[in-house]
Amino acid sequence: MVNSIGIFDSGVGGLSVLREVAALLPRESVRYVADSAHCPYGHRPADEVLALSLDIVRFLLDKKSKLIVVACNTATAAAIDELRRRFPHVPFVGMEPAVKPAVEQSRTRSVGILATAGTLQGRPFSRTRERYAAGVKLHVAAGNGLVELVEQGREDSAEAEALLRAYLQPMLDDSVDELVLGCTHYPFLSGCIEKVTQGRMVIVNPAPAVAAQVERLLVQRGLLADEVDAAQASYEFFSTGDVKTLAQLQKKHLPQLGERCSFRELSL
Ligand code: DGL
Repeated sequence: MVNSIGIFDSGVGGLSVLREVAALLPRESVRYVADSAHCPYGHRPADEVLALSLDIVRFLLDKKSKLIVVACNTATAAAIDELRRRFPHVPFVGMEPAVKPAVEQSRTRSVGILATAGTLQGRPFSRTRERYAAGVKLHVAAGNGLVELVEQGREDSAEAEALLRAYLQPMLDDSVDELVLGCTHYPFLSGCIEKVTQGRMVIVNPAPAVAAQVERLLVQRGLLADEVDAAQASYEFFSTGDVKTLAQLQKKHLPQLGERCSFRELSL
């Protein structure tokens, strides 16, 4: 019987999505895959990201996932249409830069987007941009190097701050007041982002909206966990690389999951 939510990312970034899913749906068990051996995805060709995503999805389906969250903007851009085509009975939820709410909330009419090169070149972003960004100035920056720092557990380092300053200063100079995080690794850089922007930008993270969409789909399909499942709810983490960073980030940012977590290395 299918019984867990599958979540995957190129690495540890998807934990920022898992955090919201766990907060909203505490009865649900989660199986999480970090493809840290192939991280970053941002510079890989789309067909390579699709092949990696297919392997992970097959693994998560073997683990009895009832719904899969592609907790990676880059993999969503490269793979989600094909995943839906190949596995029509599986509900998939993907990530997309939250341009719409940022545009609605911007008072300066100047909105910033920080994402990987892969996401910025992908079709979902150009669609979103066309649909929602008319009438505002959109500042786009590829956050090269940021994913690697988060993967190394250096999200609060001087290097992270220096890189962020380089990407965000031009936005500050142009009165950007809403900053969309278009990569699931970036919420872990919030401390450094706040330091650089000094409260002049609202950080827009789509993860809470993604968790709400997970709940909606589970309700629609009658797949929500019941109280019996809740008593056994667990979080299994798999990494194709070193599981250490994953375990450290879980302890630091999701300590509430505590004893119910287990960590394993995975080769696909
Ligand atoms: N967390 C991934 C995303 O949201 C990072 C992509 C990468 O590995 O470059 O796009």
